[in-house]
Amino acid sequence: MISTVLTLPCGAVLKNRLVKSAMTERISNTNFEPVKGHERLYEDWSSTGAGLLITGNVVIDRKHLESAGNVCFDDEKMLPKLKSWAQAGKKYGNHIWVQISHSGRQTNKFGTSRPLAPSEVQLKKLGLFGKPKAMTEQDILEVIQGFVKAAKLAKESGFTGVQIHAAHGYLLSQFLSPLTNIREDGWGGSIENRSRLLLTIIKEVRKVVGADFPIAVKLNSADFQRGGFTEEESLEVVRMLDKEKIDLLEISGGTYEKLAFFTMNEENSGLKESTKRREAYFIDFAKKIRAISTIPLMITGGFRSYDFCNEVLTDGEVDLIGMARPFITNRDQISDFLKGKLPRLENLILRTGFKQFEDAAEGGFYARQIIRFSKGKGLKTNMSPLWCSTFLIMYEFRKAIAKKF
Ligand SMILES: Cc1cc2nc3c(=O)[nH]c(=O)nc-3n(C[C@H](O)[C@H](O)[C@H](O)COP(=O)(O)O)c2cc1C
Repeated sequence: MISTVLTLPCGAVLKNRLVKSAMTERISNTNFEPVKGHERLYEDWSSTGAGLLITGNVVIDRKHLESAGNVCFDDEKMLPKLKSWAQAGKKYGNHIWVQISHSGRQTNKFGTSRPLAPSEVQLKKLGLFGKPKAMTEQDILEVIQGFVKAAKLAKESGFTGVQIHAAHGYLLSQFLSPLTNIREDGWGGSIENRSRLLLTIIKEVRKVVGADFPIAVKLNSADFQRGGFTEEESLEVVRMLDKEKIDLLEISGGTYEKLAFFTMNEENSGLKESTKRREAYFIDFAKKIRAISTIPLMITGGFRSYDFCNEVLTDGEVDLIGMARPFITNRDQISDFLKGKLPRLENLILRTGFKQFEDAAEGGFYARQIIRFSKGKGLKTNMSPLWCSTFLIMYEFRKAIAKKF
């Protein structure tokens, strides 16, 4: 099943059901453009045989970065470099889609001390994030135009689709959540109002990319925070998305405050044993979506075994399997996995021994591997967990001061 083709509503065809989900690369040059390392990374991932590669998040605004190494899709002058990246990434007949984002209040202070956000609700994490400024109508309009421009550039440069990032606590996800969106105008309040920015962006992007170009949305099943975006609200958003022309819905979950997309299967996740056995964290939520929507569906997070992937595809629980970390730790095994020659992609678990550092260590470990791959180096497994846990802060600082803002 995993090796069968899938035709999307817009008519695009994916050669199989395995998708490399977005992983931020952090390697852009000082002018926020892609570099040769992007081409190397994506040509290698293209050679794995996966039907679709989704790029790490690219941003629409140089001041609202997820990482100081993000590419910013805001300038026609970078078209030649974008074209080379797209070309390398689809070398083996797969699709390559660009994940477009704006970080909102999750932009760290290395980028701006006054990030834009729906409301002035500050992210309190290690003192890294400034107090946001509530967006004006003009700011909102500029964000819509930014997404549209980025999608247009993606299409012009040969990427074969786009994904609008509305998950993981970034700007569009902040608009969806009642914890971070306490606006009293047409962009806040009811779930219809909180979804308005996402829906407007989708409609406007569709106008410029045309009917036959894939548009995907990454959405949280929930924020996993008290008073935050709930499963019921997520289903309401899916009902609204179902009326739009969307080619793929990817489900994930969590924000910077609760990194559910990394750690849901672990002991402290609070998940029931029955759910953990099902390997993919958001698979139970998929059933609820299936009942109300016909948008092709992908779940990301936790998939590792061939039989389980095939089971959920055959049962029609999902249409596509999203995987991220195995494309780093098991990059050379993906093609055998797709052919059914390898039953399982084993997880590599890094532990510092200090609960408060585990997420940072994991994030640092994977970031370092991606940077290595971009330089043509291989996987390095013997890394100090403690060093990995501090790596990102230092790396981001160095990268940010080198940037031309
Ligand atoms: C190093 C790294 C970077 C990531 N960057 C992004 C990103 O840019 N955008 C995004 O939507 N998710 C990002 N994610 C989350 C993954 O897409 C995915 O949801 C998560 O890793 C769970 O899938 P997995 O269990 O197959 O790894 C990232 C994950 C990792 C490990």
